[in-house]
Amino acid sequence: MQGLGVRELGVSAVREAFDVALRAALTLSELDDIRVRFTGKKGELTVLLRSLGKLPPEMRKEAGQEVNALRDEIEARLEETGRKIREAENEKQEKSERIDVTLPAKGRRTGAFHPVMQTMHEIANIMQGLGYSVASGPEIEEDYYNFECLNVPKWHPARDMQDTFYFPDGKLLRTHTSPVQIRAMHQYGAPLRIVCPGKVYRRDNDTTHSPMFNQMEGLLVDKDVSFSEMKGTITEMVNAFFGRSLKSRFRASYFPFTEPSMELDIECVECSGHDEHCRVCHGTGWLEVAGMGMVHPNVIRAGKINPDEYNGFAFGIGLDRMAMLKYGIADLRLLFDGNVSYFLSGFGGAESC
Ligand code: DAH
Repeated sequence: MQGLGVRELGVSAVREAFDVALRAALTLSELDDIRVRFTGKKGELTVLLRSLGKLPPEMRKEAGQEVNALRDEIEARLEETGRKIREAENEKQEKSERIDVTLPAKGRRTGAFHPVMQTMHEIANIMQGLGYSVASGPEIEEDYYNFECLNVPKWHPARDMQDTFYFPDGKLLRTHTSPVQIRAMHQYGAPLRIVCPGKVYRRDNDTTHSPMFNQMEGLLVDKDVSFSEMKGTITEMVNAFFGRSLKSRFRASYFPFTEPSMELDIECVECSGHDEHCRVCHGTGWLEVAGMGMVHPNVIRAGKINPDEYNGFAFGIGLDRMAMLKYGIADLRLLFDGNVSYFLSGFGGAESC
């Protein structure tokens, strides 16, 4: 080993190789590879350290100092580069996870019940509070339930082709929810308290009529039911629905399935009778909201209940009209034309569409 100087030992070659490798390192695992390559058991620096023993004693001290200095340098630089890489990685991660709390919220579009559905639920809830159950019946109905059982005679104009949608097999689209009275009496017998909301169909189509609209039927059958119970029930329901005590009046009317029959008018919810140009009541001060009466004995009998033992009352209300009155919807057609923006804008009046 005579003559082998520090230079020949390869300190600077190792330093250069380390330098090149370190500059190329971008990740901690690359840095680890470098650490193993130079300081591992068979690493380049380790080999250097071991070769010190082969030097002539007079050179060992100087060479030893150089190799030790290189070892310190390598360790320090590995340490420093590791810290830099970790910092850069942290910063990158923070950036990708950063949330700008000043950004405006995206907002959320929530669904809502159609006003008619809402009305249906509200009235059904009120009636459930009075002990009524909710019943339903088919929209494609038989003449028997829709007319015959309800005491509607063959010659009644409601049975006309002009008013009713008939199917070729003689079935029809129910013209009212009243047939559910018969179906419910057949199914449950007496005593009975039901309401039946649902779609009904008539051959009407103009600004105030739609060929499909919504009704809710009510029926109470029990012993010794009085006319005043009927009046009290209907008044209670209407007041609860509008959330205040409204003036009401009962007018004598005619329905084949009730006797006597009445119609209920309530005080105009818009002007209370104080505006002769009111767009809702047209200056009359009254709004017609329901038909009702004491159930005709023929109808009780058709329901397979003994009319000598039981009597009752029934009523029918137009849910679309109730929804329009409560929510200030000016035009019936708005309820059915699917213009969602009108309802999302808070029923902004017919003109806004
Ligand atoms: N079915 C009637 C109609 O569609 C409404 C009606 C009136 C229902 C009187 C009733 C009633 O139950 O008693 O116009």
